[in-house]
Amino acid sequence: MEARLQRRIQRYGWDAAAPAYDNSWSIQLWPTHDTLLKMASLKPGMRVLEIACGTGLVTMRVADAVAPGGSVFATDIAGEMVAETANQALSKGFDNVETARMEAENLPLEDDSFDVAICALGLMYVPDPVRALAEMCRVVKPGGIVAVTVWGERRNCGWADIFPIIDARVKSEVCPLFFSMGVPNVLAASMETAGLTRIEQTRRTVDMLFPDYVSLLHAQIDGGPVALAAKRFSRATREEVDSAFLASVSGYRQEDGSYKIPGEFVSAIGSP
Ligand SMILES: C[S@@+](CC[C@H](N)C(=O)[O-])C[C@H]1O[C@@H](n2cnc3c(N)ncnc32)[C@H](O)[C@@H]1O
Repeated sequence: MEARLQRRIQRYGWDAAAPAYDNSWSIQLWPTHDTLLKMASLKPGMRVLEIACGTGLVTMRVADAVAPGGSVFATDIAGEMVAETANQALSKGFDNVETARMEAENLPLEDDSFDVAICALGLMYVPDPVRALAEMCRVVKPGGIVAVTVWGERRNCGWADIFPIIDARVKSEVCPLFFSMGVPNVLAASMETAGLTRIEQTRRTVDMLFPDYVSLLHAQIDGGPVALAAKRFSRATREEVDSAFLASVSGYRQEDGSYKIPGEFVSAIGSP
């Protein structure tokens, strides 16, 4: 797909997902964010750049970890996401968070100007992930850290049928290469190509808990990468999609009606 089109789909798609994202994903992604934050070795006083900040789930935790004296510059391609991160910082009382709308592959930022660059679950959506990693490498000081998490392999993510289910009903082209970064060694190899050294990578499966089918559909369809496509559905198509998706995850339904769905994540760090 043409890169410009992919960026537009991401920008407006995540604008559409912004209102549903934060409360749908904060608990489910907490352990994965934990792994990434530990690997980033954040300390008070550090200046951190965040790429693809979404609604600020990672941003607030970084702001806390680098205080006092440190700050986080949170960026995302979607204006609604950036606005939500700014709101969250304001309402939670963080005065060390700055925000801006920015594309991962083109950072209008000076070389060697951050201690750490961090990106949680954003790289799969970027047309040229190596270029985005090279940009993170460029703006981080020598000896600093670039820390990234992506979804793992398709077969290890229990919710993965959402993409073909949506694609069968609307030409969505959400992210054709979504799981390609999660294939063994691809993230580490991309980091190396981008100029990073001393790369360490871990792969981990997390059971994501959704209390009921309503919260599951809300997270996966209204608050995820397919949100824009789903907005175009008629009521009948939406009902069809909901049933098809619930059928695809029926093996993960617990006796009490909740869902425990495995998600695999790959996290890696490297240094410029
Ligand atoms: C799943 S959300 C992740 C949000 C947050 N980092 C988290 O872990 O909760 C993916 C984010 O990537 C952003 N994104 C997609 N393509 C991008 C690009 N080319 N440049 C910057 N951000 C992008 C989206 O707007 C969206 O907010």
